[in-house]
Formats: sequence, C-alpha cells, structure tokens
Amino acid sequence: MSKDYLVYVDGDFVPGSEARISVFDHGFLYGDGIFEGIRVYSGCIFRLAEHLERLWQSAKMLMLEMPISIEQMERAIVEALNRNSLVEAYIRVLVTRGKGTLGIDPRTCEKCSVVIITQPLKPLLGEKAKLEGVRTIIAWVRRDSVDATSHEIKSMNYLNSILAKIEAINAGVTEAILLDRNGFVSEGSAENLFIVKNGRISTPPMTAGILPGVTRQTIIDLAGDLGYPIVERNITPYELFSADEVFLTGTAAEVVPVREISSRPIGSGERGPVTARLAEEFDRFKRDPRNGVLITEDIRIVAGVDPPEENQRTS
Ligand SMILES: Cc1ncc(COP(=O)(O)O)c(C=O)c1O
Repeated sequence: MSKDYLVYVDGDFVPGSEARISVFDHGFLYGDGIFEGIRVYSGCIFRLAEHLERLWQSAKMLMLEMPISIEQMERAIVEALNRNSLVEAYIRVLVTRGKGTLGIDPRTCEKCSVVIITQPLKPLLGEKAKLEGVRTIIAWVRRDSVDATSHEIKSMNYLNSILAKIEAINAGVTEAILLDRNGFVSEGSAENLFIVKNGRISTPPMTAGILPGVTRQTIIDLAGDLGYPIVERNITPYELFSADEVFLTGTAAEVVPVREISSRPIGSGERGPVTARLAEEFDRFKRDPRNGVLITEDIRIVAGVDPPEENQRTS
C-alpha cells in the first residue's frame, strides 16, 4: 500500500486519505479552478517562480481571488515537502472557486480553496520511453481555439486531453497528438511538442491552442544556448510525419522522443541526436539548484545525490 502523504487543504495538513473538498465546490461541479504540476529534483523545486507566475496569470484570467499570497504559497509548498520528507517529488497545486450553490454564478462562492498534494513520481511516460521513444496517434479531438476555452490557462478543463488519451489507449499506443482548429499541430495530451528537420527545431506557437509549458520554455532557452536554430511557428501534419525527430516535453514527462505517429515511423524510429542532446542538457539543468528554490528546512539537501529509496517509489 502506498504511503498516506500529508495534503495541504486551506491551511491544514491532513493525511491524503482524509483530505476533503465540498461537493458544492465549483471546481468539482463545473471545473471552475486552476492548477499547476511542479517537480522537485534533489531537494530543489524546479522553476517554482515560473510555475507560480503561470498560476497567478491563470487566476487573473478566471478572476479567481487568490486566498493566499505568492510568498505564503511558496512557504506552504516547502512545508508540505518537508512534512512528507520528500526531496524527489511531484507537486500538484490546485485552486478552486470554492463552495457555492448549484449554478455557475461564481458570486455564490465565498472563498477559493487551495490544495497542495506532494508525492513521489517517476517520469509520466516511463524511464524507458525517454530513451526509446513512444508510439502515438493524431487524435480526432482538437485543442480549443484561443477565443474558446483557452489552453493558455492551466484550468481544470481537460476534457479534450482526456478524450485524446482514451483514443491513444484504445489504439494501443502511449500518447495522442492534438491538432488545433485550423489543422495545425498543437501538442500532446499533457506535453508540448517539438520537431527537428535538417538540424532546425520548430515548436507550435501559443496561437495553436497550446499550454505555454515551463519545460517548453526551458528547452527553447537550452536549444538557443546550444546554438540550434529554433522557431515557434505553425506546423502541418505533413511536416510532423516527415520530421527527422519529434519529441514531447512536460513537467511530468520531461523530454520524450516520439518514434511513431499514426503507424508511420518518425526518422530512424529511434531517439535522434538533437533530442538526445537536449534531454541530456535538460537532465543537467533540472538538477542545478540555481534553477529553482531549495527546500532548506528539516531536510539536508545534497544537490545531485540520489534520493532515499522510499522517495523513488511511484505511489
Ligand atoms: C496540456 C498540456 N500541455 C503542456 C504541458 C507541459 O507543460 P509544463 O512543461 O509546464 O509541465 C502540460 C503539463 O501538464 C499540459 O497539461
């Protein structure tokens, strides 16, 4: 049985099995809420400032009144990790509209709720996938357009990602790639996407219905530092199929090569050299304490050292 890690709910720490949110919370009733997924490597919360900046931007778009400040959120996240003795972990921060009456009117909700879940995590698509790549399909379901349920907001509305994932599972592959409303390539169900052709890297722009991923931005910066030409532009399905390399990026997935799309092999069908170089650089970067916030209380931090056995377990 997996350990019952403590969960932060509106200022209290309670065992995960006892953590509760009201069934009248509009997050539950209508998906009216936002979230972040964040990683901790070697006792350092990777790109915490960027994740919290995105959370606050999502709140602004949805006109959610944050019940705590950024500093209080940062302290609560650090405390959650310390209380659970986690130095290699996944953090899920959720902010819901709060308890209200039936009906979507947000004015009936008194106060937003904040939940912080911390637990150990292995790469979302598996360690093997990072080396060997994953098989994918292009899903029938599209990303919403920027003037619909904008995916620039990391909201609790994930239905098209879920439909795409179900399609991938039913097709016997690991992941689905979604197109935008114009037929251009958008992203994976929970990852951003990059292609490499003749040494040039491209990734879909924000207007293609993507979530502006923190990992995506890190990869754009690292690729630039390494001297790869990199552009944000619309990508057609034809370009996707004929790319030398395709890879996915995300907090949970990290950097994952795509070796097949809708039964067509991509490039050599193996992880390509540019993907390998960027994955290697990302693995170094994510463990550099300068790229995040160190957990300084209680836990002795030794950056770059493997965590204790327990913290490596997937719950
Ligand atoms: C739809 C979607 N796209 C992209 C990403 C990758 O974003 P990040 O690198 O910030 O985790 C995620 C992460 O959860 C996601 O849900």
